[in-house]
Amino acid sequence: MYRAGIVTLSDKGAAGEREDLSGAVIREILEQAGFEVVSYRLLADEGEDLKAELVRLSDEVTCDLVLTTGGTGFSPRDITPEATLSIADRNAPGIAEAIRAYSLTVTKRAMLSRGASVIRKSTLIINLPGSPKAVRESLEYILDTLSHGLEILSGKGGECARK
Ligand code: MTE
Repeated sequence: MYRAGIVTLSDKGAAGEREDLSGAVIREILEQAGFEVVSYRLLADEGEDLKAELVRLSDEVTCDLVLTTGGTGFSPRDITPEATLSIADRNAPGIAEAIRAYSLTVTKRAMLSRGASVIRKSTLIINLPGSPKAVRESLEYILDTLSHGLEILSGKGGECARK
């Protein structure tokens, strides 16, 4: 069973002015897919706080997968991709590219999400957009392929079938 962490980035959520529906959607989808959600935190859109949380989830909690939601757009307060890239060891851009490619078939506004996907140590970190709808669309699209990446990253498997 893979261990997952969730981080919701929302100034309004952190101030208690908005319910965190997106984090709840991530939790529901991950648990249905058999992940163990070991951490779930709601943060304001502050780069240093997010960096510290991503380092904690990777280095101390040793999550296999960390999903963030929110803060990927063009608002001056949207700093999720920059914080994520700044703590990364390696880039894994194909996942963010796949999310955008699929999402563009749903809404052209998907081009406005700047989300990144990276690896830190043996943790895969993926930025999802902020709305519950966007979270569901993005995560359901990548989920079955993620498990193969996690298998290779964790050293638990890694035979790529020649399909
Ligand atoms: N991706 C999907 N699949 N579905 C969506 O509805 N909304 C877009 C985009 N990605 C959307 C999506 C919109 S409107 C924005 S502004 C960006 O994600 C950034 O969202 P964020 O700032 O909440 O992270």
